[in-house]
Amino acid sequence: MKSLLILLSMALLLVACNQTPKPNLYQQLGEEAGITALTDHLLHQIEHDPLIVHHFRDTDIPRFRRLLIEQLCELSGGPCVYSGATMEESHTGLNLNTRDFDRLVNHLISAMQQQGIPYGAQNQLLALLAPMYPEVIGR
Ligand code: HEM
Repeated sequence: MKSLLILLSMALLLVACNQTPKPNLYQQLGEEAGITALTDHLLHQIEHDPLIVHHFRDTDIPRFRRLLIEQLCELSGGPCVYSGATMEESHTGLNLNTRDFDRLVNHLISAMQQQGIPYGAQNQLLALLAPMYPEVIGR
C-alpha cells in the first residue's frame, strides 16, 4: 500500500512537471525590454560596421528601430503587430547581397550572445529570420 502511494505521488509529480509551461521565444528574448536592448545593440553594431552602414544612409533610424522591435516581438510570439512594409518592399532598391545579410545576422548573433540569450532561443530566432533571405537579397 505504501509503495503504491509512493508510485502514485511520483506519477502526479511527473504530470505536474510536464505541465509547467516552457517559456516561449518572446519570453526567452527578455520580452519587450530584452528585444528593445537587442535592437539597440544591433543598431550600434550596424553603425560601426563600415561594410554595411552606407545602406542606412537615407534611413529614418528611429522608425527603423521601432519597426524592427515590432517585427522581432511579433515573430517571437509577443503581443505586437508589425506595422511596417513587407520585406520585399522595404529592401527593394538596396541591392543587398549575401555578405550584407551575413554581416547583419552575425551582428544579431553577437548581440544575443552578449545579452545572454539561451543558445536554443538564438537558433529559434535565426530560423525564423532565415526564410526572409530571398525577400531581402538581390532586390
Ligand atoms: C532577415 C533579415 C532582415 C530583417 C528581418 C530586416 C528587417 C527590416 C525592417 C523591419 C525594416 C523596416 C521596414 C519598413 O521600413 O517599413 C527594414 C528596413 C531596412 N533594412 Fe532590413 N532587414 C533584414 C536584412 C537587412 C540587411 C541584410 C540589410 C543591409 C545590410 C538591411 C537594410 C535595411 C535598410 C537600409 C532598411 C531601411 C530602408 C528605408 O530606409 O526605407 N536589412 N529591414
